[in-house]
Amino acid sequence: MPDKNKKPKEIEDLPGVGEAIAEKLREAGYIDIMSLAVASPKDVADAAEIGENVAAKIIINARKAADIGNFESGDEILEKRKVIKRLTTGSKALDELLGGGVETAAITEFFGEFASGKTQIMHQLSVNATLPYDKGGLEGHTLFIDTENTFRPERIVQMAKALGLDPMETLKKIHVARAYNSSHQILLVEKAYELTEKYPVRLLIVDSLTAHFRAEYTGRGTLAERQQLLNKHMHDLLRFGDIYNAAIAVTNQVAARPDVFFGDPTTSVGGNIVGHASTYRVYLRKSKGGKRIARLIDSPHLPEGEVIINVTENGITDA
Ligand code: GTP
Ligand code: MG
Repeated sequence: MPDKNKKPKEIEDLPGVGEAIAEKLREAGYIDIMSLAVASPKDVADAAEIGENVAAKIIINARKAADIGNFESGDEILEKRKVIKRLTTGSKALDELLGGGVETAAITEFFGEFASGKTQIMHQLSVNATLPYDKGGLEGHTLFIDTENTFRPERIVQMAKALGLDPMETLKKIHVARAYNSSHQILLVEKAYELTEKYPVRLLIVDSLTAHFRAEYTGRGTLAERQQLLNKHMHDLLRFGDIYNAAIAVTNQVAARPDVFFGDPTTSVGGNIVGHASTYRVYLRKSKGGKRIARLIDSPHLPEGEVIINVTENGITDA
């Protein structure tokens, strides 16, 4: 039974929305209260097969629950942006491409084919996050959600040594959680809040963001459900980043398509859902030797561009 004194969290908690209506709304893409709050009565009425008056009441209730209308003035947003920090990737060129490094309170997605360097960059970021601010660090700890069992402490040791850091102290600041399936992965983000009670977590990594989802939701009929869960997961991550001013870095695999010369390289797993929720998207591809080409895609305020980075024993460096 919905508790009247409790603020509605899911759409079925809203007065006027029963399970049957909630199901129809979800099918039509109204997956959370915010999506209903900004919808039109006609669309909601059509989706749920209800009258427009009933739909309008549901929308009013959604608006009450959704905390919309909290306008922030431009100067308030500017003030907030002053606390935004940038985490160095280890490559000055890549940092510049990203506008100074991986931004806090935002999601940066690294996507590319196998062995394109995504996991190597995740290792490097976790080491760099321990650095002082004036060295491009976040003076903080990392929560590394590892879905593919590819976290290697030995690599952390090599990268830490290369920066003159104490390898053991560095390892202590990186908290690794294996995620065994997609639900576990989603749950681990909630656990991240507990970790912040003990440690200053400033970087949250999910490597890989999409592998479990891709493996578990294979049939055509499951695509909507997969996208919905991924969408929720991305928003959970962003919320964590906002609250703790933490950087969020995620990886996403994409199949190499040598058949398409000018092909769209953004056909990564999760497609538009992941693409829209990510603030920055970096497409990685292999070049000669340890070199990798990193390209910034669809950034809201940075020019697109490409740089070359190097994956070496010491970690990520300029080419
Ligand atoms: P998937 O997870 O399979 O999609 O790939 P990924 O993009 O995560 O690739 P990853 O970051 O694991 O890159 C693997 C590549 O990094 C290897 O093929 C090597 O070229 C390079 N690499 C990894 N470790 C070392 C190292 O210790 N020294 C050097 N020089 N290169 C390394
Ligand atoms: Mg990897």
